[in-house]
Amino acid sequence: MEKSIEVHNLTVSYHSKPVLWDVDFELPKGKIIGVVGPNGSGKTTMLKTVMGLMKPDSGYTEIFGQPLDKVRERVSYVPQRESVDWDFPADVMDVVLMDATARTTYSNASRKKTVASLLRRSKK
Ligand SMILES: Nc1ncnc2c1ncn2[C@@H]1O[C@H](COP(=O)(O)OP(=O)(O)OP(=O)(O)O)[C@@H](O)[C@H]1O
Ligand SMILES: [Mg+2]
Repeated sequence: MEKSIEVHNLTVSYHSKPVLWDVDFELPKGKIIGVVGPNGSGKTTMLKTVMGLMKPDSGYTEIFGQPLDKVRERVSYVPQRESVDWDFPADVMDVVLMDATARTTYSNASRKKTVASLLRRSKK
């Protein structure tokens, strides 16, 4: 089986109190997967650890059979909750360009042109 996310012997704590322990699973590639569990059971903590936002006490995670750092450009994560500063001076173009900046080596002008044409297309 080709794998997407792998979690092995994972233990993760907040302030030394484990909220996940000995978690072990492998998910197949190319499937839509739902993570189901009661509030506070550790779903977000597990995903944050897979995304490198939390450091595990023990165990490890991989994506597409590799450590996150090797596949970072192929993975996206939308946080469950995020505080948004609505006064921050960024429009849709700026936000899309942030991602484009991380992923391409094109010049600023060429990136801007591409994003503008995509945004025009999305309005139709
Ligand atoms: N920042 C934090 N500091 C301390 N404890 C936390 C923190 N975030 C989560 N926890 C605790 O860790 C446990 C797992 O929380 P987590 O948010 O991962 O659960 P969840 O399954 O995503 O819940 P929900 O369904 O409500 O989104 C809970 O007991 C929670 O109170
Ligand atoms: Mg959650």
